[in-house]
Amino acid sequence: MAHKLWEKNFEVNKEIERFTVGRDRELDLYLAKYDVLGSMAHITMLESIGLLEKDELTQLLAELKNIYAIAEKGEFVIEDGVEDVHSQVELMLTQKLGDMGKKIHSGRSRNDQVLVDLKLFTRHELKEIVDAVKILFDELIQKSNQYKNVLMPGYTHLQVAMPSSFGLWFGAYAEGLADDMLFLQAAYRMTNRNPLGSAAGYGSSFPLNRTMTTELLGFDSMDYNVVYAQMGRGKMERNVAFAMASVAGTLAKMAFDACMFNCQNFGFVKLPKECTTGSSIMPHKKNPDVFELIRAKSNKLQSLPQQIMLIMNNLPVGYFRDLQIIKEVFLPAFDELKDCLQMAAYIINKMEVNEHILDDSRYDPMFSVEEVNQLAANGMPFRDAYKTVGLEIEAGEFKPNKDIHHTHEGSIGNLCNDKIQSLMEQTLSEFHFERMENAEKNLLK
Ligand code: ARG
Repeated sequence: MAHKLWEKNFEVNKEIERFTVGRDRELDLYLAKYDVLGSMAHITMLESIGLLEKDELTQLLAELKNIYAIAEKGEFVIEDGVEDVHSQVELMLTQKLGDMGKKIHSGRSRNDQVLVDLKLFTRHELKEIVDAVKILFDELIQKSNQYKNVLMPGYTHLQVAMPSSFGLWFGAYAEGLADDMLFLQAAYRMTNRNPLGSAAGYGSSFPLNRTMTTELLGFDSMDYNVVYAQMGRGKMERNVAFAMASVAGTLAKMAFDACMFNCQNFGFVKLPKECTTGSSIMPHKKNPDVFELIRAKSNKLQSLPQQIMLIMNNLPVGYFRDLQIIKEVFLPAFDELKDCLQMAAYIINKMEVNEHILDDSRYDPMFSVEEVNQLAANGMPFRDAYKTVGLEIEAGEFKPNKDIHHTHEGSIGNLCNDKIQSLMEQTLSEFHFERMENAEKNLLK
């Protein structure tokens, strides 16, 4: 390898090189922009403590800005023989600016460099996930309000149980997302702490100003203890993955419902034919593959925390190369979840609802509890009312009264969608993404 940062007076075995680099060069491309931002903050701080000249800082920052622009255009490449993104950025600076480029690594290790890259990448991606969740949430609330008066059967044990409504069904998944958003927020807050300055995991003898890099990068605070900062590798990814898995769990369940309700035996919802897929042999098929794939991809995403946990299982304190492998499952997961969220919002928007399900008498028994409650409201003890209606059903004499009155909070007649929206708004207002956005804008000014 031509440009190893740790090159000395011997050549590393080629097989060892191939195996230790693995897929890292490809995965590090996700981190290129953030590696540049981290370096900008680091060298600004190095200048403030006298380890770089003002003029050197100016030139280095200008060149880093160019590299950022290259990465933003998707044109950043890790050249053949270069080990990772960190080495590539340093190489580009050195090629352009000579010895000045070699000064930027004072007080830093690739261990805290990759940590800060991952944090900057993750908080950015979490914002995109949050935005995509909100779009799906709004779509679900809209559908819930639109169909608030359309009844459907509710099931327990997959047996017809009680009256439900499309308003309730859509709204339930909206409220699910409002809860998932709390996990995303916790994940964001844990991510938004600065590990830079922990170096290899034990700090540095240079008088690093970590408060300064924390502010420059718009982190809420730092991971104070340098040993803990390094221990956060893997833990941050796992916790973020838990939040993503929570969202994915909501999506997977919703997708299963949609597949089931779309089946001819239910016929509660339908997709416009251009949103279905066909069969090579059965000419009549209109398959809901979109929901099936959302379900499978979301189920896969739910395994992410476990995958990460097992990769880093039982590692003691300190850096290990094992941690590199987490990138393979973690970095691509954001695009996968975003894609599912965007497609879910798209397809929910297109979904058509059957407003005449209850014309079919097979669903009549779902009104049995309404009848029991009516008798009980008129003074009959509940247990006697239950028995009376039960015997009517057994004798085939039950006549449903479909005029139902559910009025309490969260029920068919009182969905409380405005309250669910307030929960969501409250959580969203506590993210403070503007801190991150302003800091990054300032660094790139
Ligand atoms: N590619 C490495 C990783 O993802 C970067 C850090 C390398 N540090 C080291 N001590 N070898 O972990």
